[in-house]
Amino acid sequence: MSVGIQIEADVSDVAGAVPRRLFGSFVEHMGRAVYTGIFEPGHSTSDDRGFRGDVLGLVRELGPSVVRYPGGNFVSAHRWEDGVGPVDRRPVRLDPAWHSVESHRFGLHEFAAWAEAADVEVMYAVNLGTRGIQEAADVLEYCNHPGGTELSERRRANGADRPFGFQLWCLGNEMDGPWQIGHKTADEYGRLAAETARVMRMIDPGVELVVAGSSNQEMPTFGHWERTVLEHTAALVDHISLHAYYQEHDGDVASYLASAAALDGYVRTAAGIIDDVLVKAGLDKKIGISVDEWNVWDQRHWNDVEQHELIAGGWREHPPIIEDDYTVTDAVVVGSLLASLVRNVDRVTMANQAQLVNVIAPIRTEPGGGAWRQTTFHPFSLVSMLAKGNSLRLAVTGDTVHTGLHGRVDVVDAAATFDENGHCALFLTNRATESATEVRIRVRGARLTPYGTWTIAGHDRHLKNCVNTEPVRPVPLPGVTAEHDPEGTTITATLPPLSWTALRLASAVVRDA
Ligand code: AHR
Repeated sequence: MSVGIQIEADVSDVAGAVPRRLFGSFVEHMGRAVYTGIFEPGHSTSDDRGFRGDVLGLVRELGPSVVRYPGGNFVSAHRWEDGVGPVDRRPVRLDPAWHSVESHRFGLHEFAAWAEAADVEVMYAVNLGTRGIQEAADVLEYCNHPGGTELSERRRANGADRPFGFQLWCLGNEMDGPWQIGHKTADEYGRLAAETARVMRMIDPGVELVVAGSSNQEMPTFGHWERTVLEHTAALVDHISLHAYYQEHDGDVASYLASAAALDGYVRTAAGIIDDVLVKAGLDKKIGISVDEWNVWDQRHWNDVEQHELIAGGWREHPPIIEDDYTVTDAVVVGSLLASLVRNVDRVTMANQAQLVNVIAPIRTEPGGGAWRQTTFHPFSLVSMLAKGNSLRLAVTGDTVHTGLHGRVDVVDAAATFDENGHCALFLTNRATESATEVRIRVRGARLTPYGTWTIAGHDRHLKNCVNTEPVRPVPLPGVTAEHDPEGTTITATLPPLSWTALRLASAVVRDA
């Protein structure tokens, strides 16, 4: 077999350090993400707080670093005060965003406690849809001020003596989207976000603020939105968000498998706008990109069917919403999207897979029943575990594939990391659907030996996992070789058709230590 792809890397040629926050996730009050997802009092595995132990176990195995909360579209009509104080006195309200009834049995304190149990950082979103500057200031004071004021003492009376100390705050959610409650023009949102950011910094100068960028790359306002919003806020914020969901259109698997190329382009375009605004404003600072909602999601089903069924079903508590069952192909695409995030660490400062449990999620549950890993669980857990140290710049040459939506792309999508202990990780997606592809990876500056291989592939690209059986899981990739020479290592591997692979290698000197 001929070599389909050659990849050149040098351990000293780095794109940037891989931030742990790249492996974030998201829990929204939506569908069964919270209720019967992470929280189910009375479940056989739940603790006395109602936190499902089977789910917590899977979350720890998945390895997210930061979890965004409480929305999403939900946050744009949410009153944070409803979710604090004695549970039996919390109001039951309509959640217009998801046509649901919200009981608030689970709220701010419960999430802070759950995040501690899951060992994740909290990323808290404020409502800039129906609410504004005052409420954002209030919830920050409630959470982060030590004591002695009405709001901070209320938190203490509600059981949290010490401040939560949340550092990461989102200034609203998807305010560019006409579907968003309180949707705004870029100027309206930019002004509101700037004034909200200003007072939040006065209250707690330690916060990191994320201003809302585009909901997706196809938004007619993409570009104009980022520029205008940043013209208002650049001096006051640390990150700008991008949201990105991908799906297979009409059986066009080639384009679907090239989704990472679209994400690369989205990030690079936004990065150019950030630089331009900063230069024009004379600001000597960096603004990171927070891809704080990304995933694969078949939105046609939501738009054409599910949304109508949800409304026809009437107002209910935690109805199931967008519980997509993921396939081998979805897992391969998720793996390549993670590789894109790793490649772009010079600009992407954090990212949150949307979402964590039940709602387009790597973890699924049955109410009162079991929990399981979807196919997409595996690339996330592997990249979160293996991508450490620096992301390496790669030069990729060789075969390409034509795609209807993204033009010609390399047949293999690749990312690589190398850490201070001499561990190297390679993430490789074979976009060829019918044939294996041989890759030759030349890594200069390290004498590497493979010591772990994981591949997700399968003769049936539509195969899924379900509650009682998880047939889709990574298996070792046979035949990976490493040849050493005075300057480095050449690794060869044969990637199965339509597959995602992680390779872990160690520098010999480190392995012997
Ligand atoms: O993650 C599901 C929804 O997708 C979120 O609530 C919203 O922000 C996005 O449109």
